[in-house]
This record gives sequence, structure tokens and C-alpha cells, in this order.
Amino acid sequence: MQVLAKLCLIPLAFAFPSQRRADRPVYWLLAGDSTTAPKGGWGDGFLATTVAPGSSGHNYGHSGATTASFRSGGDWAKVIADIGTFKKDYEVYVTIQAITLFGHNDQKSNSGVTLDQYKTNLQQFAAESKSAGATPILVTPLTRRTFKDGKVVENLAEQRNATISVAQANSIGFIDLTLKSENYVNALGQSVVSRYNYQPEDWTHLNEWGGVVFARIVSDLLVGKFPVLKAATKANETMSALIEAGKPA
Ligand SMILES: *[C@@H]1O[C@H](CO)[C@@H](O)[C@H](O)[C@H]1NC(C)=O
Ligand SMILES: *[C@@H]1O[C@H](CO)[C@@H](O)[C@H](O)[C@H]1NC(C)=O
Repeated sequence: MQVLAKLCLIPLAFAFPSQRRADRPVYWLLAGDSTTAPKGGWGDGFLATTVAPGSSGHNYGHSGATTASFRSGGDWAKVIADIGTFKKDYEVYVTIQAITLFGHNDQKSNSGVTLDQYKTNLQQFAAESKSAGATPILVTPLTRRTFKDGKVVENLAEQRNATISVAQANSIGFIDLTLKSENYVNALGQSVVSRYNYQPEDWTHLNEWGGVVFARIVSDLLVGKFPVLKAATKANETMSALIEAGKPA
């Protein structure tokens, strides 16, 4: 038993995206809060429009989730179970978005999750994904789209910093969705970004097209940072160019 356990640990140390077997399709497991979840997040748009044929995934985004409730409520156990199911036929990737995954709700003063706990929780999700046979990728929180004095309010900086520092300290892959989404939202301005609102005055959640557009940002960041993912990704060069140019997509 012990010998087996040791043997199993060796390949895990190399489980970074660049070591992915490019000959296998990808299975995405998306962990997060309402900004990833169906009806309001980018997860469904991601799976529907950015994943190449043969690859697939499941959106486990959970409205209202914190990094603590995602585990205590049973969502995380489903992610781990799915890694076991799908790793036979796919390279399994787990995105862990903390803004909003966790960041948006953890940020609420009554969430019961301190910033230190948030960091520990992210680190544990990543470590457990790796042990189960998947590649974790931490995602900094999607920006809210509330403006003040003509600029988007940057009120997730602590969660962003915490996510990046956990990733760097533990050699976990990450993408900086906070920065990229803030830049895009600033480029568009408040009246233009309102077209992506889930409800007219909901500047956090995304309507269906907003989910598609912000999923494209997520996908472009992933492929930019981990080129091995390109084969498993469906491009939309028109949309990517509009986003890069700061124009509405
Ligand atoms: C985030 O990190 C940067 C540099 O590491 C620092 O300058 C900034 O104050 C931090 N912001 C917050 C809100 O922690
Ligand atoms: C690609 O992006 C353009 C610009 O946003 C959009 O009009 C078009 O529907 C997208 N194509 C697909 C296949 O999603």
C-alpha cells in the first residue's frame, strides 16, 4: 500500500498544465459562486461556446457559495467524485474562482470566512484536485461593474491578492480575471456594460450574452497562459479582437 501511494505521488508533482497530455480531450469542472453559476455567471457560456468538440465539462458554480459553504454543502465532494469519473478519458481541469467563488460571498462581512481562511480554503481545493488527478487553476474574482467617478469600483483587491499569493506560494496555475475584466469594463464604460446585466440594476451578475462574453475572457486568459489548452478550445477571433480593443462584443 505504502509503496503504491509513493508511486502515485510522483506524477502528481508534475501535474502542471504544460505537462498535460495534448492527445486527450479536456473535462472542465468549474467551481465558484453565482458569478460562475448557471443564470448569472460565466460558466454555462464557457462550456457552451469555448470548449472544442470532444471536450466537455460541468458547471458547479453555486449561487451564494463561500469557500466554506462550497465544501460543507457538498459541492466540493461532487467535484472530487467527477475527477475520479472523468480522468480515465479526459485531462481534468478544475477552475476555482474566488470572487466570487468564493470571493463575492466570502467578502460579505457576515460570511464567517476570514481572508486567511479564504486562502487556506483555496489552497486545499487546489491540493485536493491535484491529489485526485486533476489540474487546478485558481481564477481571481470577476469584477463587479459598479462605477464611481467614471471608473469601476475595485472592491475585490484583497481577494485578488490573496488568490494570486496562494497560487504563487504553492506553484498552482492561475489566471487574473479580476484585472482583465476590470480593464474591459473600464474601457466600455458604465452605460455600455449595462447591456450585460442580469437585471437592469444588477451590476454583479451576467445575462446570457454577458456570460458568453466574459467566458471568452476566461478562455483567452487560459489559452494565453497555458497554450496546451488551445487544442481543446473553440476560438472566436472576432470576439477576442473586440475585447482586446475595449469594444463591446
Ligand atoms: C495587493 O497587492 C499589492 C502588491 O502586492 C499591494 O500594493 C496592494 O496594496 C494590495 N491590495 C490589497 C487590497 O491588499
Ligand atoms: C463570435 O463573436 C461575435 C462578436 O461578439 C459574435 O457576433 C458571434 O456570434 C460569435 N460567434 C459565435 C459562433 O459564437
